[in-house]
Amino acid sequence: MTISLPTNSKMLTKEFTFGVATASFQIEGATSADGRLACIWDTFCATPGKVLNGDDGSKACNHYNLWQEDVQLIKSLGVDAYRLSIAWPRLMDEKGQANEKGIEFYRNLLKSLKAEGLQTFVTLYHWDLPQYLEDRGGWVNRETAYRFVEYAELATKELGEWVDSWATFNEPFCAAILGYEYGIHAPGLTSPKYGRQAAHHILLAHGLALPVIRRNSPNSQVGIVLNMNRTYPASAKSEDQFAALVRETLDNQFFIEPLLKAQYPKLLEKVLPDHLPTVLPGDMDIISRPIDFLGMNFYTCNHNEFDENTLFKDVKSKQQVEYTDIGWEIAPHAFSELLINLNEQYSLPPMFITENGAACADVMVDGEVNDEQRVRYLNGHINAVNDAIEAGVDIRGYFAWSLMDNFEWAEGYSKRFGLCYVDYDTQKRTIKRSGKAYKALLESRS
Ligand code: FCB
Repeated sequence: MTISLPTNSKMLTKEFTFGVATASFQIEGATSADGRLACIWDTFCATPGKVLNGDDGSKACNHYNLWQEDVQLIKSLGVDAYRLSIAWPRLMDEKGQANEKGIEFYRNLLKSLKAEGLQTFVTLYHWDLPQYLEDRGGWVNRETAYRFVEYAELATKELGEWVDSWATFNEPFCAAILGYEYGIHAPGLTSPKYGRQAAHHILLAHGLALPVIRRNSPNSQVGIVLNMNRTYPASAKSEDQFAALVRETLDNQFFIEPLLKAQYPKLLEKVLPDHLPTVLPGDMDIISRPIDFLGMNFYTCNHNEFDENTLFKDVKSKQQVEYTDIGWEIAPHAFSELLINLNEQYSLPPMFITENGAACADVMVDGEVNDEQRVRYLNGHINAVNDAIEAGVDIRGYFAWSLMDNFEWAEGYSKRFGLCYVDYDTQKRTIKRSGKAYKALLESRS
């Protein structure tokens, strides 16, 4: 099994960027080194019952110390670009003063990536909010948006020279809704009122930071990364269709509509008015400021049926389908469909697929990991991107999640998403069969 594209695919030309992605908290470890402050995920991990097996980020992949080896690993995969995130609590202290040691770490890393000829895609916020800000209300507090702008100011001033592309936020849905509405991610709050208000403040912070980033880093592209699933009605019944529509509205449209149409979905005014945040005059103009690209993370699809109390409910597909080790349905057709639908509904900026990948129950046998399911997953989804491009969607790049196995949030280290296997005891990295297949695809480019 290989990963291959039609020979005339636009994805095989120089204009298309292939990369691998990671995030600070998931790989760095060294959570108290060199002045790094605590973040909400340190606190969440330390709260019994929140993260599987009580795992935490203190060691992770020890990337903070092994970054030079990791740059070589990235290079050895033959990719064009590396997507990483910066840990806010490493960069500045509680008073907003720069932490030179933290800045130096990212400066060295970025310089080294550039020296290797790699493009750098940097996310400012991949969920590691400093705990002192959560203590003041976190994203539910509008003030946090202004603190984010100060952080963005510092990060882009100090590091902008080595960054090709800045994303303000990774997945506002997960940061706000999983964190403040469903409570399954840090900080673990559970109210739609909090979740939707947190989302609004994250989107506001994004818009407020845009001119700051552009001023400090004029040669970089600037955008934001959203995650989206396609939701199918469990049956042809109109109530199930309604359920799927509400679900996609809450998960997808709630985030893309303010960015591209300066409004929250009208449907919510009628069906779930308590899921609409408080918006101050001028906010929507700030949130909808133009972006250079939209990042899209895609993993799976949902099936929903109507539920009297909650309006929608997850059910399993009635078809014979395949799941990954994290229980997510493998649905590449949903990926192309989602991208094509969005392109019909919105005037989309250029798109990058900033994450896509599979958790598999990988085992190392005689020094090799034969992750055949991941190879098939990647092949299916990379071809789904190609289908969307053929249908007219302007997609400029694809990043596999992830460079290596890492801390998978509430699942701890139990779920492996890497193209490279990590032995957490020895910190040895081994390129899996999927990593080799990805590399072979990239090498097949003329
Ligand atoms: C996404 C996150 C990423 C990773 C993948 C599996 O939602 O952005 O950090 O955990 O899921």
